[in-house]
Amino acid sequence: MNRALWLYLGVFATVIASFLGLVQLPDHQLRGLEPVRDESGVDRPLRPEGGVLAGRQEYIGLGCLYCHSQQVRPDGFGADIARGWGIRRSVARDHIWDPPPVLGSMRTGPDLTNIGARQPSAAWHLLHLYRPRLTSPGSIMPEYPFLFTQQRLELERPADALSFPSGDPRPGWVTLPTYRAKDLVAYLVSLDHSYPVPEVRP
Ligand code: HEC
Repeated sequence: MNRALWLYLGVFATVIASFLGLVQLPDHQLRGLEPVRDESGVDRPLRPEGGVLAGRQEYIGLGCLYCHSQQVRPDGFGADIARGWGIRRSVARDHIWDPPPVLGSMRTGPDLTNIGARQPSAAWHLLHLYRPRLTSPGSIMPEYPFLFTQQRLELERPADALSFPSGDPRPGWVTLPTYRAKDLVAYLVSLDHSYPVPEVRP
């Protein structure tokens, strides 16, 4: 009987300790995180809205996160910073507007934490999504042509028509991004976590 009581107390203590350590403590540490104001008075990270928010859903729905991470490891834990994926490590604060965070676990492609700073051109992203090998020769990234429509070229070329390096693939027709493609690209170019945060010393 005596032993059963100890066993019971042991199990109970283990459950309580795990709850405190794995649920209560992280919640206490992370709950109060606020955006930081940068030198130009803008609160970072920016709160995603409208197209950016819709683009984030596309990013999740299209499975981009199965090949791309969004977390820069600290110096000494890998070459992320040396590779140019960020100027500082990622911190929890970077993800306060990200329920759920799309940190990813695979790196078949480069980390995208700061892709908006690294590649701010929407035209580049559209072309890359349409056919990655046009901008990145030899790329193994899948093509996403279903995010685009083809339209007969009328008198004037629409402003958002893709401009291919070697001319339109089908003469007389232009390729236009759908709203899904535009939202996704708005999300990608919004990814810029290069602002300073108090957790990381410059
Ligand atoms: C099968 C794996 C795979 C999937 C799925 C994938 N990518 Fe990629 N991605 C790659 C690889 C590999 C590269 C590097 C070659 C290149 O630039 O195309 C890359 C490159 C990129 C780049 C350029 C990164 C840089 O640093 O220049 C962006 C932006 C990007 N992917 C966005 C996306 C988006 C958005 C999706 C979802 C619609 C997606 N990827 C899905 C593998 C993938």
